[in-house]
Amino acid sequence: MILAANLKTNLTRDKTNKYIKGLEKFLNESKSGQEVFVFPATSSLDYHEKSSVVVGAQNAYPVQNGAFTGEIGLEHLEEFGIKTILIGHSERRHILGETQESLVKKFAFYKSQGFKIIYCIGEPLTVREAGHEKMMEYISAQYEGIDTEYKDLIIAYEPVWAIGTGLTPTLEEIENIHKELKRKSPAPMLYGGSVKVTNAKEVLELQNVDGILVGSAALYLEHFCSMVSYADQIEKIAGEK
Ligand code: 13P
Repeated sequence: MILAANLKTNLTRDKTNKYIKGLEKFLNESKSGQEVFVFPATSSLDYHEKSSVVVGAQNAYPVQNGAFTGEIGLEHLEEFGIKTILIGHSERRHILGETQESLVKKFAFYKSQGFKIIYCIGEPLTVREAGHEKMMEYISAQYEGIDTEYKDLIIAYEPVWAIGTGLTPTLEEIENIHKELKRKSPAPMLYGGSVKVTNAKEVLELQNVDGILVGSAALYLEHFCSMVSYADQIEKIAGEK
């Protein structure tokens, strides 16, 4: 399974490096078989030896370098050996105002550079409340211009109203929407939005859920490690069946 920690605008470089070291130690000692990603804040990026933890960027501009004040480009990621990027996170769409058009450009650029892309989709509450059809229309528009067959694509379904709120869809709702969205792309699909140690196991157990993208709860290393352990346990039980 895939477990990804989005550290957002948290943890300085020093704290991030300690976090990654602690996570590596846990993964090695527990002999975990999970695919684990950490997305630090941009200024907390650093060079990490190739290890059981894959470090990715939360964002970067689709350019090698240039005059884009406040942004970083490909060469800033290359400096740290980073080949993984999060694109389309709802905070970038809704707070930072990134449009589908700009995300499509970003996707195409980082795809052309062979990056692994975690592409985020998800609907705000008003859209969800407008009914299933409207919700699917909204989410479908987030697939427009995206190469859904890209071999290094992972999709993360994160309902906007579930992010950082403690609210989540029901397990049945998550299972059903993942099932429906899986028809649009063969990529693995993560669920994100208020995943905590208390619900991670049941989310990971759902059919069509290939992993989780965790924000606030992942800031506690021991909580994120527990989630990795749940995935190991689930796979072990499945293997014994
Ligand atoms: P929370 O886990 O804090 O709800 O955030 C989810 C998220 O946005 C991960 O990208």
